[in-house]
Amino acid sequence: MTKITVVGSYVTDLTARTPHMPKPGETVLGGPFRMGPGGKGGNQAVAAARLGAEVTMVTKLGRDLFAEEARRNFQEEGIDTRFISESAEEATGAALIAVDDHGENMIVVTLGACGDLSAADVAEAEEAIAASDVVLLQLETSMEAVEAAVAAAAEHDRMVILNPAPFQPVPDALLQQVDCITPNETEAGLLTGMEVNSRETAAAAADILFEKGIGIVIITLGGDGCYVREAAGGYHVPAMRAEVYDTTGAGDAFNGALAHFLAEGKPLAAASRLANAAAAISVTRAGTAPAMAYEHELEAYGIEE
Ligand code: RIB
Repeated sequence: MTKITVVGSYVTDLTARTPHMPKPGETVLGGPFRMGPGGKGGNQAVAAARLGAEVTMVTKLGRDLFAEEARRNFQEEGIDTRFISESAEEATGAALIAVDDHGENMIVVTLGACGDLSAADVAEAEEAIAASDVVLLQLETSMEAVEAAVAAAAEHDRMVILNPAPFQPVPDALLQQVDCITPNETEAGLLTGMEVNSRETAAAAADILFEKGIGIVIITLGGDGCYVREAAGGYHVPAMRAEVYDTTGAGDAFNGALAHFLAEGKPLAAASRLANAAAAISVTRAGTAPAMAYEHELEAYGIEE
């Protein structure tokens, strides 16, 4: 069984379908409303757990009903909650999400308690980090927590995957300690200062990040799969075809699956293809964590190494 520690956010997703995205000042009559578990960290933890990984979640919750739901959801997914801390001051975070008829989304996320995840909270989880095959991080918590997790992983020589979402400036010294980075086009553009909107520009941006000292760079390209850069060179990995219902959390599906398959020792190209497939399955369903793919669903894709 692979072992993955996710250090990151949990927030409750409050999602409304809308025929189109409202303009500033406009009110739109929406479709169904859903409330469910979310946050990039929590989603990635569920994505890995459903593929068979033993996952430990490190995050911070408030003292409220959302926090109770969070713990219940993580436990139902078989995720270790021992290192989830609690804030006496901040409420559990929430994300306001609109998803339009094309499955595209807009999100405002308010981090609440998980924005206060501290280096001390991460230090509590050192035993889990030390025992992990992969430590999976995002930028939806404090930078202090990200830095502490990278330092602990380095201390125990564990692989670090950083999904730099949502974008925050990351010091080069931190990037150099990351084994694999997985920005989308927007984040790759912000990290490199160039526009990334095609396979060609993704290849150029991936080269820049690789030259900074990150051994594996994967730029996700939405419906066009991803561009991978490693020491042996760069290549495009096509997406799986899917009937899109809701793209929210597709990046999280990709990252959770990537962490699991790299931890399992799959070659990078095969792990990337499987991660694309996991993302494709997730976009056919509503929601974020609840939409993540199960192992048996991925097996149906019959991806070879
Ligand atoms: O990546 C999708 C996630 O981003 C949502 O679940 C929402 O919580 C936001 O944090």
